[in-house]
Amino acid sequence: MSAIRGAFSKDELRAKRVGVLFGGLSSEREVSLRTGAAVSGALRSLGYDVVDIDVGKDLPARLSAEKVDVAWLAVHGRYGEDGSLQGLLESMFIPYTGSGVLASALGMDKVYAKQIFIAHGIPTPPYRAFRDEASALAEKDSLPFPFPVVVKPSREGSSVGVHICKTRDDYEAAVRDAAKYAGTLLVEQFIKGREVQGGVLDDEALGVIEVRAAREFYDYDAKYKAGTGTQYLFPAPLPLEQYARVNEVCLGAHRALGCAGGSRSDVIVTESGDVYLLETNTLPGMTATSLLPKIAAGRGIDFPALCERLLLGASLKS
Ligand SMILES: Nc1ncnc2c1ncn2[C@@H]1O[C@H](COP(=O)(O)OP(=O)(O)O)[C@@H](O)[C@H]1O
Ligand SMILES: [Mg+2]
Repeated sequence: MSAIRGAFSKDELRAKRVGVLFGGLSSEREVSLRTGAAVSGALRSLGYDVVDIDVGKDLPARLSAEKVDVAWLAVHGRYGEDGSLQGLLESMFIPYTGSGVLASALGMDKVYAKQIFIAHGIPTPPYRAFRDEASALAEKDSLPFPFPVVVKPSREGSSVGVHICKTRDDYEAAVRDAAKYAGTLLVEQFIKGREVQGGVLDDEALGVIEVRAAREFYDYDAKYKAGTGTQYLFPAPLPLEQYARVNEVCLGAHRALGCAGGSRSDVIVTESGDVYLLETNTLPGMTATSLLPKIAAGRGIDFPALCERLLLGASLKS
């Protein structure tokens, strides 16, 4: 079995057929199409034998028909980032980039991930998790932290279903909306501060970028639409010890979940310098303008080199 575990040398990879898997069935399909196109273009520019695969129900048949030796995963959200795709590839003995089944499943569920972070002493906003809409509404007047609060579905991404609630009326509407999505309902204390993101690559903290959204928060449009005025500052202009602390928290989160390859964590730094981890993305966006590529570029790793680094780490993890 060891011959196909990876990770590979560049020479070995030259002889392999690389499947870039993108698309999929989640609400983040559109983002994934962009990640997939960017990654396959980058790998082709480096001379790799690449086949593009839009992930659907026929995936096992396609992987076999296309004789894919190694999979570069560019699928976000459920069915892609949540461990299920990783499990399929493990079962087919096809090495793949990034995190394995368990880390992916944990990272996809914000409530489970928070429990792991807390167990590892990683600071994350106070929260309550609710099984359903009714139980979340029943606690409207007895949340253990003050308003504003943030309501979000535990298993989405790209700010889908995320609401900042200043009042109890906002809370009711937010709970009703977030309950439409899969998973439990997560209610967090709103943490006022600067929003930064830390990248980790191959068990090393890469650095921290600051995101200044011109909108109320870093919502879907601020993330993906041009012209919404979002500013990106790398390296994040934080005092040195805060910068180091964010790096430490992001690497700690990557390790606590058991991630492999690249991850990107969302962090809030308060005015007094306290650091709160919001979430860790085990399969971060990888368009040429996404945050992990921006951080890597700031460290001298251009986009094709980053895609290749991740490819070199492809392996079976089970
Ligand atoms: N507890 C919080 N305090 C302040 N802002 C938050 C909080 N939770 C989420 N946000 C805002 O909502 C955005 C999306 O939330 P996040 O937990 O990262 O979920 P997603 O998986 O959708 O990116 C964050 O980038 C931030 O702008
Ligand atoms: Mg996020």
